[in-house]
Amino acid sequence: MKRILLLLLLGFTPFLQAQNSGSAIYLKQILSYPLGASVNPRLLEENASYRALASSEFTSLTAENHMKMALIHPEANRFDFSKGDEILAFAKYNKSRVHGHTLVWHNQTATWMKEFQGDQQAWENLLKNHIQTIVKHYQGQIAGWDVVNEAFLDDGSLRPSLWADHIPDYLAKSFIWAHEADPKALLFYNDYGQDGKPKKMEAILNMVQDFKKREIPIHGLGLQMHISIQSNNEEIKKVIEQSTATGLSIHLSEVDVAVNPKNNPDFVLDSIVQKAQSDKFQLLFTSFANIPASQQYGITFWNVGDKDSWLRGYFKRPKEYPLLFDEAYQRKGAYGELIEEIKRK
Ligand code: XIL
Repeated sequence: MKRILLLLLLGFTPFLQAQNSGSAIYLKQILSYPLGASVNPRLLEENASYRALASSEFTSLTAENHMKMALIHPEANRFDFSKGDEILAFAKYNKSRVHGHTLVWHNQTATWMKEFQGDQQAWENLLKNHIQTIVKHYQGQIAGWDVVNEAFLDDGSLRPSLWADHIPDYLAKSFIWAHEADPKALLFYNDYGQDGKPKKMEAILNMVQDFKKREIPIHGLGLQMHISIQSNNEEIKKVIEQSTATGLSIHLSEVDVAVNPKNNPDFVLDSIVQKAQSDKFQLLFTSFANIPASQQYGITFWNVGDKDSWLRGYFKRPKEYPLLFDEAYQRKGAYGELIEEIKRK
């Protein structure tokens, strides 16, 4: 509780918010849908520039890690909502929406889950309890949930995982259980790399069709969009259009545009690369603008400044600059160019 209060107090930093408002206009102001970022509670507490951008630039927040299985459900009989609650309190204070990520995933599962032994019924009880305890805890406060994350392989087959291996039809069951716990929350299927992977895209679309036929509740598709300056524009447009054609809400849910995907140690962020990245940001936003308003759930960046990106930490690429804000938490040139492009259209 104390930590939450501290965070709220720190959240009230108008002079810091002013530092980045040189050009006066904010990207979020010209968008008719939420602009999001995933956040890390430690950085929200420790880093004033990070905190200022998280509150002033974004209108939707996602926990980068703290609502994932290993962190939120560390022991069979213990849930740890402390960090998720901090993010929620910060978002509430700033009147931001919160998007939930993620109830079911093959990665970042808890150790006790990996060691769990039981028959099918026992596994179903485990997963149902996991999903429903979390969704109920946040009922009415989280707008939408990534119910299942990354369930398909590139060839369109179901990815082997603790869940796929022990629970037949676990995808549909997860959505049903989540819906029971909070009938008002929007339920998303979230995945990466649909562009250029037609078999994976097809598997997702087939799942949506199948769910509709069986009246399994699903309301949205998340396209992570961890792309690079080399990604193919036509492929990106195509998967956004195919997803939109389902009639579901669309979330570009984890956007980053890698500039140095091969981790070249001599990489230099020159003006040619900056332009290529700026073009890709514009492609995502102009493609999203073509989606009917009722289906525009939002665009979320995967963290705030270049320094905080998982591409640096997780993939150990120190010379990677994938986001809209630079290492000093300043708006990149691409930020203003994006505003110009959106206004022009
Ligand atoms: C990543 C986080 O950014 C890292 O901090 C963590 O170490 C691993 O997970 N797809 C997802 C996200 O759905 O949850 C992942 O986040 C990135 C890929």
